[in-house]
Amino acid sequence: MERKEFLSLVGISVGAVMLQHCLSGCSKSSDPSPTTTGGTTGGTGGTTTTGFSGNATASKGTINFTLDLTAASYTSLATNGNAKVVDDVIVAKTSAGNYIAVSKACTHQGTTIDFFSALNKFRCSTHGSEFSTTGSVLVGPATSPLTQYQATFDSSKNTLTVKA
Ligand code: FES
Repeated sequence: MERKEFLSLVGISVGAVMLQHCLSGCSKSSDPSPTTTGGTTGGTGGTTTTGFSGNATASKGTINFTLDLTAASYTSLATNGNAKVVDDVIVAKTSAGNYIAVSKACTHQGTTIDFFSALNKFRCSTHGSEFSTTGSVLVGPATSPLTQYQATFDSSKNTLTVKA
């Protein structure tokens, strides 16, 4: 066997082993399976949506935006238990009627999380990480908290301001 041919075969074998390892790693049985349903992200809104003003995209600077809850895209947030993704943020109104906002991307691998109002927590459907209403990790595999934002409702204007 020629040296070049040998090296080619070794390269293919190593590649096959690495691929197999990667594929098995993506579906390892230790990953928690989703066990709850009923979460909601409530669709998206943001930069180009009527009723939105400010910035909800972390890469564009400090998060600071206001939602007009009389605008069609955001009226759902007037109801307890609902949630809505606004660019990089997920805003929710808890079952108790409190507004909360955290970064939408799971800190494990970036999946957009859902809000489960009945459980009063956020959950990632990909591997099952769970986060409190303040963004702290309740269940892994995520190890880092979500970013929590201040959410302030102005009843005189029917607006919700979210900021860092
Ligand atoms: S992406 Fe893995 S738990 Fe969210």
